[in-house]
Amino acid sequence: MRSTIISATLVGAAAASPWGPMNGWGYGGSSSSSSVAGWAQPTHTSSSSYASATPSSSGQVPFKFPLPNGFPNPSNDSLLQIELAAQGTLPNGALPTSINATTAGLFQAIAFNEISEVAFFTSLLSNITNDVPGYEIQQKVLKDFVNRTLTAVIAQEELHALGANGILTTSGNLPIQPCQYVFPSFDFDSAIDTARRFTDVVLGTLQDVQVALDADGDGQKFIALIGSVIGQEGEQNGFYRSLLDLIPSSNPFLTRSAGPFLFSLLNQYFVVPGSCPGPGNAALFAAVPVFGKLIVNSQDITLSNQYINFEVNSTITDLKNYSVVFINQQNVPVVKPIENLVVSGNKATFQAYYPALDLVADGLTIAAVTKNAGPFASVDAVAGATVFGPGLIEIN
Ligand SMILES: *[C@@H]1O[C@H](CO)[C@@H](O)[C@H](O)[C@H]1NC(C)=O
Ligand SMILES: *[C@@H]1O[C@H](CO)[C@@H](O)[C@H](O)[C@H]1NC(C)=O
Ligand SMILES: *[C@@H]1O[C@H](CO)[C@@H](O)[C@H](O)[C@H]1NC(C)=O
Ligand SMILES: *[C@@H]1O[C@H](CO)[C@@H](O)[C@H](O)[C@H]1NC(C)=O
Ligand SMILES: *[C@@H]1O[C@H](CO)[C@@H](O)[C@H](O)[C@H]1NC(C)=O
Ligand SMILES: *[C@@H]1O[C@H](CO)[C@@H](O)[C@H](O)[C@H]1NC(C)=O
Repeated sequence: MRSTIISATLVGAAAASPWGPMNGWGYGGSSSSSSVAGWAQPTHTSSSSYASATPSSSGQVPFKFPLPNGFPNPSNDSLLQIELAAQGTLPNGALPTSINATTAGLFQAIAFNEISEVAFFTSLLSNITNDVPGYEIQQKVLKDFVNRTLTAVIAQEELHALGANGILTTSGNLPIQPCQYVFPSFDFDSAIDTARRFTDVVLGTLQDVQVALDADGDGQKFIALIGSVIGQEGEQNGFYRSLLDLIPSSNPFLTRSAGPFLFSLLNQYFVVPGSCPGPGNAALFAAVPVFGKLIVNSQDITLSNQYINFEVNSTITDLKNYSVVFINQQNVPVVKPIENLVVSGNKATFQAYYPALDLVADGLTIAAVTKNAGPFASVDAVAGATVFGPGLIEIN
């Protein structure tokens, strides 16, 4: 494909594209990707669900810290190397010696996420560098550009994590230590699709962080800092979307999320259960719920009014009384009944009607199964009633 600016610039006259006509840069010919249930086929028209653990994520060798540079505890020399790679520094002003307990929880959640991102992108770059099957990039110029980009992203995510943990320790709160990680991606394209999905959820959750900082009295200290990270992650996501042959900017107003949705997503798909050490993680797990997994079984979801297929593992007998909530952009959450419920053992499948075309619901939609039908005035209220989620729907 030549339809993205980046590939048009870098591929230039290389007419004999090594990629299939509908695939992203890294397509190495492992067409098995399309047969993995529930995952997006990352073509320019596709949009789909964030779904069940793929075959490759079971039996994976877990990713473990520390990194060779000492992260998450780099020496001062290593920190300087990280800053050079990140093209910038940690904020060098004095950090507050006292923060609200709510703020401490927010920065624990941010550190938890950022360390997970360091793990993901480090694993991804390692796979590209080592030509792991499915992760090969044929064109040297493209491989170098992806290398430079991901090298900076890894360092930038390291600084996001170190910054959050620095705020925690300076204020006498518990920092977050790394867990062990596995990844739901199985080739370059699915990895980039994974990156844009979790980055979309991060972009929505940092909105929630700003609102909480405003409410807990620490807004003046940190809202600008969080805003700087939102923009930074948005820059990253334009790159991931471009690689998938999607236009870089997805919506006028990016989808709102809430802390428990991101925390659940990370624990459902990335974190090896029970692998998170230390009192900081213990405090975080005590404070933030991990919901049941909500699998979106519909494939290639387009901008149309349609039924979406879902699946959960549950022994809940009155599931039919629950609701499905769709969260998109900055709009009021949409509540729909569960329909066509089929229970077989622990597994329940059902549908809910999503008028995506009527709502112009492009970009990320977060789906959640709630105990009641609301109505929900806010995304936080949805999270407060959620039993299963997030189900991620991406359209265009
Ligand atoms: C690292 O840098 C910090 C801040 O400048 C300083 O307080 C600390 O002593 C340094 N550590 C070492 C081992 O040089
Ligand atoms: C990198 O490759 C390994 C081995 O195939 C795999 O387990 C891991 O999930 C891959 N990482 C990413 C981010 O896709
Ligand atoms: C990325 O660049 C580093 C440093 O130049 C090099 O060691 C590594 O092999 C490169 N990886 C890829 C995928 O090109
Ligand atoms: C801390 O934040 C909570 C809301 O999360 C708020 O009710 C409380 O007043 C704040 N404490 C201070 C000292 O501002
Ligand atoms: C339900 O459990 C099975 C078996 O443990 C697992 O393979 C599947 O991914 C689970 N589905 C959900 C939606 O959690
Ligand atoms: C479920 O809904 C039905 C009909 O709306 C109602 O009769 C029943 O009491 C509800 N069950 C529970 C547990 O709320």
